[in-house]
Amino acid sequence: MTNHSLTKADVVNRYLPELLDVSDDAEAFAPSNIALCKYWGKRQKELNLPINSSLSISLDHLGTRTKLSLSTTGLDQILLNGESVDMATPFAVKIIAFLNLFRREQSLPLLIETHNNIPTAAGLASSASGFAALTLAINRFFNLKLSDGQLSAFARIGSGSASRSIFTGFVQWNKGEQEDGMDSHAYQLDHQWPELRVGLVKVSTGPKAVDSRSGMGRTIETATLYESWPKQAENDLERMHRALDAGSFEGLGEIAEHNAMSMHATMIASWPPLLYWQPESVAAMQKVWALRQDGVPVYLTMDAGPNLKLLFQQESETDIQQTFPDMEVVAPFSSEPTTQTI
Ligand code: PMV
Repeated sequence: MTNHSLTKADVVNRYLPELLDVSDDAEAFAPSNIALCKYWGKRQKELNLPINSSLSISLDHLGTRTKLSLSTTGLDQILLNGESVDMATPFAVKIIAFLNLFRREQSLPLLIETHNNIPTAAGLASSASGFAALTLAINRFFNLKLSDGQLSAFARIGSGSASRSIFTGFVQWNKGEQEDGMDSHAYQLDHQWPELRVGLVKVSTGPKAVDSRSGMGRTIETATLYESWPKQAENDLERMHRALDAGSFEGLGEIAEHNAMSMHATMIASWPPLLYWQPESVAAMQKVWALRQDGVPVYLTMDAGPNLKLLFQQESETDIQQTFPDMEVVAPFSSEPTTQTI
């Protein structure tokens, strides 16, 4: 059997009981995550199996809460932050297709209520926390009793980076080797770093970026430079573990920033070029580098969009906030209740 013949449904089916045990309702929360060692490139598109392993930090209270219940209208309905979603939108179509993997042919019209508390001003994508929260809610709603690894592997089928949003703190997503992808899932790392802060800097609303799926495809197909990526990704991951073990913030920051820049270099080397940066992104990068030159330990990372995520420690927060007054600061290891909680 080739990789291409194994579908999402084939894989999910193996873990479902003959008859679903349906609850009245179920809900779950999953945090957003920012990769410090990025995932860029799929070795198998259908199951979102990655070419390289990745490592992220979850954003504590920022994320998605999703509730599933039986629909009283006889039709599927999605409410996003309290507002009804047009079921023909790509967002709704993706969610329903994912739910269909689990309810199969059974007639189970559902009400899906989903809330993102990621401030729109932060410019963060919500597909990772969205698919992770949906997977966790599905597990409860259908009493599937899936293990953490299975939950992470199923969330990955919805969106690759969602595999990491099943967990809090530092998280590693191992690329895995198996054809069915069930070993391509994330797990939580033991390291704690209470002083660590992630600053979300939205620099531009700009034109809509090329989505990560198409971006990865284009990079692999057209950028010769991409050949160097898997090796760099592997080295960075190893070095990141050493920095975490040593508690070296400079190590963590340097590896994360260099890793993000290297990923962007492969994107820029694609044809047509994939430049996710806006002029405001570059201006903000230069501000980060100027701060560093002035002795403030701050590093940046960026994903498939124009916004920056800054990495620093609590002691530098005031200095950095002076340069980036609108920055939203997340303490990934704080369990303090905040006004953002949903
Ligand atoms: O799984 P996706 O489609 O959200 O892709 C994520 C790609 C990056 O955000 C650029 C990197 C990463 O590891 O999160």
